[in-house]
Amino acid sequence: MRGNLMFARRFIRAAAVPAMVLAQGLAALAQSNLVDPRSIAPFVPAPWEAVDRMLEIAAVTEDDLVYDLGSGDGRILVRAAKNFGARAVGFEINRELVRETESAIQAAGVESLAEIYEKNIFDADLSPATVITVYLLGSSYMQLKPKIELELRPGTRLVSYCSGIPGWKAARTETILAGGKEQKIYLYVLGRHY
Ligand SMILES: C[S@@+](CC[C@H](N)C(=O)[O-])C[C@H]1O[C@@H](n2cnc3c(N)ncnc32)[C@H](O)[C@@H]1O
Repeated sequence: MRGNLMFARRFIRAAAVPAMVLAQGLAALAQSNLVDPRSIAPFVPAPWEAVDRMLEIAAVTEDDLVYDLGSGDGRILVRAAKNFGARAVGFEINRELVRETESAIQAAGVESLAEIYEKNIFDADLSPATVITVYLLGSSYMQLKPKIELELRPGTRLVSYCSGIPGWKAARTETILAGGKEQKIYLYVLGRHY
């Protein structure tokens, strides 16, 4: 009887270890948003040279309200606020990246200009933006295009890194060297892309 009890205890202890490892692994996966069904692109930060050129090509000024869709670590927001004097808003679903962005905004001292929301792009109202920045997968435009067409006001500039918008004519396309590779930046002006 005593032997059975000891065996049962050992068995429970042995089983608890892999269960804990599995739970930790699942939590890490959820945090990294790899399994987040809302995610339309993984986190890959745009190289700084691309961030600067995107904002220059969109001719961002202090009169602008820049929205970054899927804002990652917040680098576009911080740069738009600090170097261009624009108001900047980011939408990001990954909580860790939202926290990182909050710290970056504070560290850069641009709290009065830059804001981050832990929010799905598809739940955000995009209509106040005067400039939209996008660095997502090319396939993301399948879902994003109808929302952009519905909500963005004529004259809004949309600047997209790496992927063009299928079926739209860019006002300008530029090839840059970013992260050691040639990449394209596309500029669209709403109402003038047909
Ligand atoms: C390629 S990264 C770009 C990050 C940043 N914009 C930059 O240029 O450095 C795409 C980001 O979009 C976020 N994302 C993916 N789907 C999203 C969604 N539905 N709503 C909000 N953010 C999303 C990802 O978590 C990731 O941080």
